[in-house]
Amino acid sequence: MCGIVAYVGPKDAAPILLEGLQRLEYRGYDSAGLAVVNRGLKTRKVKGRVADLASAVPARFKGGIGIGHTRWATHGVPSDLNAHPHLDAAERIAVVHNGIIENADELRAKLTADGVDFASETDSEVLAHLISRTVKDTDSLEEAVRTALKLVVGTYGIAVVDAERSGEVVVARNGSPIVLGIGEKEMFAASDVAALVRYTRQVVHLEDGELAVLRADGFHTFTMDARETAKVPLTVDWDAGHYDTGGYEHYLLKEISEQPDTVARTLRGRIDDRFHIAHLGGLNLTPHETRAFRRVKIIGCGSAYYSGQIGAQLIEELARIPADAEPASEFRYRNPVVEHDTLYVAISQSGETYDTLAAVQELKRKGGRVLGIVNTVGSAIARECDGGVYLHAGPEVSVASTKAFTSTAVSFALLALHFGRVHDLSPADGRRICEALRLLPGQIAQILELEPRIAELARKYADHPSMMFVGRVRGYPVAREGAQKLKEISYVHAEAYPASELKHGPLALIGPDMPTVAIVPDDELLDKNLTTLGEIRARGGRVLMVGHREADPRLADDCIVVPKSEVELDPILLTLPLQLFAYHAAVALGRDVDKPRNLAKSVTVE
Ligand code: G6P
Repeated sequence: MCGIVAYVGPKDAAPILLEGLQRLEYRGYDSAGLAVVNRGLKTRKVKGRVADLASAVPARFKGGIGIGHTRWATHGVPSDLNAHPHLDAAERIAVVHNGIIENADELRAKLTADGVDFASETDSEVLAHLISRTVKDTDSLEEAVRTALKLVVGTYGIAVVDAERSGEVVVARNGSPIVLGIGEKEMFAASDVAALVRYTRQVVHLEDGELAVLRADGFHTFTMDARETAKVPLTVDWDAGHYDTGGYEHYLLKEISEQPDTVARTLRGRIDDRFHIAHLGGLNLTPHETRAFRRVKIIGCGSAYYSGQIGAQLIEELARIPADAEPASEFRYRNPVVEHDTLYVAISQSGETYDTLAAVQELKRKGGRVLGIVNTVGSAIARECDGGVYLHAGPEVSVASTKAFTSTAVSFALLALHFGRVHDLSPADGRRICEALRLLPGQIAQILELEPRIAELARKYADHPSMMFVGRVRGYPVAREGAQKLKEISYVHAEAYPASELKHGPLALIGPDMPTVAIVPDDELLDKNLTTLGEIRARGGRVLMVGHREADPRLADDCIVVPKSEVELDPILLTLPLQLFAYHAAVALGRDVDKPRNLAKSVTVE
């Protein structure tokens, strides 16, 4: 997704902007650009990588105020011209924009009728021309931005500079994140804290409908009707080191390998062995309120949604509260019935996914009670929810989610334990879950030791055009996440099905060219799963079984055996080998593992 960086201070802006843009590369983009104020505007824009932009920026690019952008094409193809910043005709105003201006065509037609020439095909360029119109009259960039934004329908995070007011940057937010970074006699802004942590840990998140004026000596924030707002800076505990590959070949492998530690962090201080309960300080729910909920509805997108399916099963099994998960992107468009006795849970690693945020906002408008399970502290979804659980998994850089997935599932286990013990889960069962939770980091480390064998299997299966993933009940979300991982990073078509449904249709696809990854936990459904394997083998299908015991060679060609947990928690561990399988399949096929084509880490547009 598009990325924004802005700087005002005593140093040269260009190197800071380039470094910040590099930190945002993981979000996905197709072109990059920057503008620096120094007796006029100096701009460079390129289709391609930030490294290409860096080579296009000459050493004489001096000036202590500037804005930079990585673009993910929406209106207009990726090209030098469509890259941001966009300028007005007089080259006085430069704007970078994330989001979508919905009435851009209408505004463009009006401006064109008034004689304005457009240099690009983007919706964003209208902003530069609109701001340019008022800035001449008001001599206040802040006022000109506000006037322009009042004409705009859509979502935006923007940063604006004015060549004739070289002391300030104006930023504004509506539906697309903007974070301010407070330095020593310098100010930063970005669409993601990743771009700031090298310089400062003190940040301020703008709310929708807020605008900020940044000068080297500080900042002021305002509402759209010019009322000043008070902001309390937040200290982020992620540092620049979190954004390095740490010696691994890819962020994805680094993040997979971090999971013993990240799961331990999610659990830290949250298990109470005296009463076999979970302490989740941020829920903001009394035991009385917790008992009053009759249903739990979980929403999220992509891998977050699949981890929500694991969460729904955990809540049903441990707390006996009916629970289900739905993609937030579907939920928000179907005018959902919001019930006062349903607890809603929104999941998001980034805390910025627009579909999830919009679903939460819709729930809040209808009086729903929403908890967030979120990785990014202070993010929009976290702020919007009534309470929640932070993952503490550290920043996740690779587009495909791994450590956030496991930490979300572990957070659900804690939540289910908490709800269960408020309801009818016995202390003995509580103890059983607490003890199993404590073992997870060590068991994950054991699974990671299987990497050489899993890599070998990945290479063996990677050249098939298509793979089937099957699982029953607890194994089904695991199969879905396994198929998701494989398709998003290796581009091998992968379909996930409930094992029980195979004979109702997809069995027709099974044959030597369509191998199956079967999730076969050692639980009460083991025999049924083994029968399914027999059905696949009888049709000439190859089977890679992922389970808790060596497979009968008549039922599976290959097998990955993972440590056993309690049945309710097994899905968490069963996911791990599938992450490594997808990773090594993608490497074997020579894919861009951390930045798969067409995908973005954080989808902040509709
Ligand atoms: C994008 C990413 C996925 C991610 C989903 C939800 O589609 O490519 O990997 O699972 O967004 O992201 P979130 O930050 O809300 O968890």
